[in-house]
Amino acid sequence: MNSGIKFFPALLFLAATAAFAADTPADVKAGAALFRDKGCAFCHGADLKGTKKAPALADIGTDKDWPADKMTDHILNGGQKMPPFRDSLSDEEIAQLVAFLRAKDHPAPPPPAE
Ligand code: HEC
Repeated sequence: MNSGIKFFPALLFLAATAAFAADTPADVKAGAALFRDKGCAFCHGADLKGTKKAPALADIGTDKDWPADKMTDHILNGGQKMPPFRDSLSDEEIAQLVAFLRAKDHPAPPPPAE
């Protein structure tokens, strides 16, 4: 009879989860440009396949050892050889970079602004 009341919390939960996890295509695109423009590509490779300086990031989006919050933390604070970016990137920019790294197909960035 009152099954609507039972479903309501489940719907709220789904809506909240979707809002939190949504990496929009616009975020992913912005992240692609940041990856190229902020020096990430210099070490990790424009194609995310890694260089002598840094490991590949191409499959990090499906790597269970690298949830989004850990990526965010690594970008903020750096690692052993990676510099921290907490002073040069905003929280929004870091979220866009993480969205780009989590995207299944890493789209090519839009052409650089003149
Ligand atoms: C100076 C070279 C350099 C630059 C620039 C750089 N990284 Fe890194 N990055 C590294 C190295 C080296 C590692 C391996 C862990 C360590 O030593 O910090 C790493 C690790 C990572 C990791 C964790 C993956 C792993 O397997 O360790 C992520 C995510 C990451 N970098 C993202 C970024 C992003 C995003 C940017 C641009 C904002 C960036 N990096 C810029 C060198 C760099």
